[in-house]
Amino acid sequence: MKQKMSELNLTWENLHKLGGKYGDSFYIWDIAGVEANFKSFLEHFRNYYKKTTLAYSYKTNYLPALCALINRLGGYAEVVSRMEYDLARGIGAAPRDIIFNGPVKSLADIEDAALSGSIVNIDSFYEIDFLKAAAAKSPSRKISIGIRCNFDVGEEKRSRFGVDVESDALENIFQAVKNIDNIEIAGLHCHFSTAARSVESFALRTGKMAELSKKHFKKDAPRFIDIGGGFFGPMAPSLARQFSFPIPAYREYAQAAAGKFAEYYEPESGPELIVEPGIAIVGDTMKFAARIVGVKKINGRNYAVCSGTAFNIKPSLHGMNLPLKVLSHPENRSSRWVEGEVDIVGFTCVEKDCLYEKYTGRIYEGDYVLFEQVGGYTIVLNPPFISPLPAILAYDAREEEYYPVRKPGTFEDVFSPYVF
Ligand SMILES: Cc1ncc(COP(=O)(O)O)c(C=O)c1O
Repeated sequence: MKQKMSELNLTWENLHKLGGKYGDSFYIWDIAGVEANFKSFLEHFRNYYKKTTLAYSYKTNYLPALCALINRLGGYAEVVSRMEYDLARGIGAAPRDIIFNGPVKSLADIEDAALSGSIVNIDSFYEIDFLKAAAAKSPSRKISIGIRCNFDVGEEKRSRFGVDVESDALENIFQAVKNIDNIEIAGLHCHFSTAARSVESFALRTGKMAELSKKHFKKDAPRFIDIGGGFFGPMAPSLARQFSFPIPAYREYAQAAAGKFAEYYEPESGPELIVEPGIAIVGDTMKFAARIVGVKKINGRNYAVCSGTAFNIKPSLHGMNLPLKVLSHPENRSSRWVEGEVDIVGFTCVEKDCLYEKYTGRIYEGDYVLFEQVGGYTIVLNPPFISPLPAILAYDAREEEYYPVRKPGTFEDVFSPYVF
């Protein structure tokens, strides 16, 4: 029976035990949570459009154990660099299950990916030169590409990625590869990261992609249309309340995007509809635990200093407070504590390193703070600053145990690339 992490017994004693083994601060990754999100997201989309596939955005969190899980669940790998491509191959993804996006790819990247059968979505015209070279090198191999489309989705500033579909750039690319026998434009791609991640915007972009598809592929439908990522995922109410707009559910995105696509193509036999969620699949599947090392009061303001840093939970240092639990020893509490409005601050020497502003309640030295919703864009954007990186522990509900999927960082991890 799978257990969601919310049901886990994350008590002070358990965190303290893990802390003793893996260090004063660590992440906890909920395997069953990823599995549940993956399945639920796809199920909702497939209710509207059966031929939907999920390509997980590696950059959001490329924990290898997580990428391997996505592969086992049947998801594609959405990668944007050679490093991520090699990771996808390293965890066992078949080349045909890898989508290579991103604005910068080398000739070798394109040759290796395209000639092994991965989809390469081109972002700029220079990639056509590389593709032509790859195609000439191996005329017997078929190369399948997509083109990343750029159009207005109602944001103040237009995206810098892809090709402007209002110009003749898209048509020029079709013309440029028309006479190359072994290059096939298999589909179109887009991805927009808008602030509100709204349902309306997904209806708009999917409709636009379907129109472009009808226009450029005419009678022969493309093999795929890829509408990218940029969805919200499940979110604790305390975090959702801090946004100035509602947080859509998977079901609403599915209705807007897959429902719209089904107006253009047969859900069972039309082009494959690819979605590339990142944060929506992993955001709520990681927590971060840190120990309160000291408490103090300065000029009337309360501080609880912890063994983590804001860089561990929100590397962009945005001003929102993530969902938080404070766990105290049931009996044996310290005689030092602060109460009222408390800033929970980090171990770095950065003045604004504040993990949580104005927590209301009592915090003791020796407590554990447990931050939720740290699965997206945290571990990948968090360099070792002042101290090595914390461990990541997976929770396996089948075994009912925690085990490291990233060991606690060491001095060597940080300094081995340097020349002494
Ligand atoms: C091409 C592409 N696809 C998918 C994603 C995933 O975005 P999100 O985590 O917002 O779903 C990104 C993120 O930048 C991206 O660049």
